[in-house]
Order: sequence, then C-alpha cells, then structure tokens
Amino acid sequence: MSDDPFILFDRWFAEARESEPNDPNAMALATADAHGRPSVRMVLLKGHGADGFVFYTNRGSRKARDLAVDAQAGLLFHWKSLRRQIRIEGAVTHAGDAESDAYFATRGRDSQLGAWASDQSQPLDDRATFEARFAEMTARFEGRDVPRPPNWGGYRVVPDSFEFWHDRAHRLHERRVFARAGDGWREGLLFP
Ligand SMILES: Cc1cc2nc3c(=O)[nH]c(=O)nc-3n(C[C@H](O)[C@H](O)[C@H](O)COP(=O)(O)O)c2cc1C
Repeated sequence: MSDDPFILFDRWFAEARESEPNDPNAMALATADAHGRPSVRMVLLKGHGADGFVFYTNRGSRKARDLAVDAQAGLLFHWKSLRRQIRIEGAVTHAGDAESDAYFATRGRDSQLGAWASDQSQPLDDRATFEARFAEMTARFEGRDVPRPPNWGGYRVVPDSFEFWHDRAHRLHERRVFARAGDGWREGLLFP
C-alpha cells in the first residue's frame, strides 16, 4: 500500500481504465458561486500528475464563473464496478496557454468547432441556433486548422486533500484520507 496519494490515485485509475466500460476519467466537479451556493457537474480528467488534475471547459461557463470568484473545487471519481470513490479538494489555477493549445489540437474537428459554436451555460433560443452557429464555424475554418477559442481552456485542481474510499466486507468500508502537510502528506483513517 502506497502512502503517496498520487501513486495510489494512479493505481486505482489504471484499474478503472481496465474495468469501466465508459469514461473511467469522468469526475464530478463541485464549485461554489459568490454566495457560497454549490453546484456540481461531470467533466473529463484530461491530464494529471503531481502538479494536479486537469479538465477543460468554456471560460464563460457557470463553473468557470464560479471559479473566477472562488478558485477552489472538489472532484469526485466513482467507479461503480470497482466499488470505489476518490475525493479530491484543492485550489484551482488556469492551465497555461501552451498546455491548453496542445490538448485542443488533439480533439476531433467536430469537438473543436463545437467549442467555437458554444456559449456554454448561456441561454439558447433553440437547438437550430446552435446548429446554425456550428455551420457558420465550419465554413469559417474550412480548409485550415481550428485554433483554440480564446474563451476555452484548461483548469488544474491542485489537491490539498484526498480521500480513498473502498468497499470492504460486512459494510466495514475503508476511508483513507491524506492532507497536505509541508512537502508531504499526513495520512489518517476515517470511520466509514
Ligand atoms: C460524462 C460527462 C463528461 C463531461 N465532460 C465535460 C468536460 O470535460 N468539460 C465540459 O466543459 N463539460 C463536460 N460535460 C458537460 C458538463 O457536465 C456540463 O453540462 C457543462 O460543462 C456545463 O456546466 P456548467 O453550466 O456548470 O458550467 C460532461 C458531461 C458528462 C455527462
């Protein structure tokens, strides 16, 4: 058993990639607005390492507006067939432009055009408006690479705590928690 939460995360994530039929990198992202009102939605983990956990989104979206006023987030992975969850909490920073550009370039062309067409989390009159915007962007970028839209990019959650929960016999589940302590981590167990 590792006592480094990043190594533990890597192990569980590798097992999830083997066993989960869909989106093992899906995670719930919790943010709070200026009044402390929480909201949560799913996003995909697109990079992770000792420097944090990265997802990409529209920088005008509700989650992005929340993070602009309170740059802290909670992440939750739940791998149902493994009966495991991992909670991560920490401060959030913008991923650099070069990092966001590099990831954007790996996306399929439709996803790239969709990022230009979408004003994520803004009211939309009808679906046809979005489809018309998509067609407009398709024409605009015809015959050339689609650059990253200026209002789209990465966010990095830098953990200050982790909790690893897994199912054990007789409902005696296990919760290992890690809190950042100086350069390392302080580990504890919680009653399930
Ligand atoms: C499995 C799954 C993965 C998703 N991944 C992302 C993602 O990586 N980035 C994103 O902006 N939205 C993603 N979404 C859509 C979000 O859940 C959400 O609807 C959208 O980002 C708007 O959220 P907001 O209004 O709270 O900002 C995903 C949805 C699902 C169900």
